[in-house]
Amino acid sequence: MYVYKVGVVGAGAMGAQIAQVATYAGLPVVIADVSEAIAQRGIETVRRIYQARVDRGKMTQDQLGEKMLLVTASGDVSALRDVDLVIEAVSENLALKQHVFRELDAICPPGTIFASNTSALSISAMGSATHRPGKVIGLHFFNPAYAMPLVEIVPGLATDAETADDMVSFAESIRKLPIVVKECAGFLVNRLLMAYLNEAILCLQEGAATCKEIEQDMLTFGMPVGPFTLLDAVGLDISYDVARILHESYGPRMAPAALLGELVKAGRLGVKNGHGFYEYDGPETGMLQTLSDKVRRETGAVSAPWQPARLLLAMVNEAALALQEGIASARDIDVAMVAGTGFPTGKEGPLHYADGLGVDAVLHELEEFSQTLSPRFWPAPLLRRMVAAGFTGKHTGRGFFSYEMAAQAAGGHS
Ligand SMILES: NC(=O)c1ccc[n+]([C@@H]2O[C@H](COP(=O)([O-])OP(=O)(O)OC[C@H]3O[C@@H](n4cnc5c(N)ncnc54)[C@H](O)[C@@H]3O)[C@@H](O)[C@H]2O)c1
Repeated sequence: MYVYKVGVVGAGAMGAQIAQVATYAGLPVVIADVSEAIAQRGIETVRRIYQARVDRGKMTQDQLGEKMLLVTASGDVSALRDVDLVIEAVSENLALKQHVFRELDAICPPGTIFASNTSALSISAMGSATHRPGKVIGLHFFNPAYAMPLVEIVPGLATDAETADDMVSFAESIRKLPIVVKECAGFLVNRLLMAYLNEAILCLQEGAATCKEIEQDMLTFGMPVGPFTLLDAVGLDISYDVARILHESYGPRMAPAALLGELVKAGRLGVKNGHGFYEYDGPETGMLQTLSDKVRRETGAVSAPWQPARLLLAMVNEAALALQEGIASARDIDVAMVAGTGFPTGKEGPLHYADGLGVDAVLHELEEFSQTLSPRFWPAPLLRRMVAAGFTGKHTGRGFFSYEMAAQAAGGHS
């Protein structure tokens, strides 16, 4: 199916960015929100994104004008009755999303695809609220959508294979990089990223290192932004919500660091209100230290020596678990983590990184961590199987990837 016209429900940050991406590719877009005035705010965001391109000399004012002709706003979802694809980007609440899809189900032709930009909610549950579960799918853009190439395509239990194929073609047509991910809590990128971010907070609350030390080491590793700067930018309330959804699904290994909950309780939401792990509107207040001390007293957390490997191996182990669950292929896991998180391209993603370290060395270190730090580091069974079978990584030519084959394909010179 070819998408000729797109509807976006929700004119907030993501809805507006997605509308801009679709119009940039030349598609007409209708943005709907609860009122015309709010929907108009989405149009203004689209204009601002284009204006920034004009200001940087990347397009002309006339081209901006042409693009803006493609986007219209409405305070009524019935304006979406003739679109081929609806992308839902309302607030992260399952009942609300089901309500929106139920309403659309009654007005859109049966062939219209309903996609949700949810970060963590169940696509299958959204599909079940409609009479077209085969046409309901996750289409997860990353923030800011105009700059981030990755789109996770997440079929639910009842989604037709054709719908997933259509969304891969659609994502490519709007110049995005689609990765199909089997439905699981947090999908692929947020699941792996949160294992890493949560570990950073655990290190901090234990007193293993300061925010700045942890951030500096991760920047030195090659991450584009430190974990606490990223958490503050995403919003600590949103991060905590995602962490709780992951905990509910994956159990104790994903239990949110207590300090994150304490920060949210204390009203520290990150950049959006000026206070998070860092202060954005004034000098440091000592509040983070006070809360960390409180958590340490209450949890009895003992400090272990700081090592960046804790964060990186938490992500690698989660990647191995996702691979063994068939959430995505090894190649797609690495591509998604590079495109979705900026995992250092020189290291080519967490699974290539593990191959470089040696899968046997990764297994050994995870075993150590699970005994000395916490059972949350219990190694993915896949790692043990790989080591037993000699798939120990780059140094033996085969691990998550085959290096002999790569060498042969390249003419045997590498
Ligand atoms: N913000 C991010 O970084 C990010 C990244 C990826 C995915 N997401 C997901 O995208 C979705 C939207 O997030 P956001 O940050 O843009 O939210 P937001 O709060 O900025 O915007 C939500 C919009 O939905 C509108 N809305 C609420 N109920 C509605 C209804 N019944 N009909 C029409 N519109 C309605 C609100 O008026 C608001 O304009 C969420 O599911 C979120 O998890 C967010």
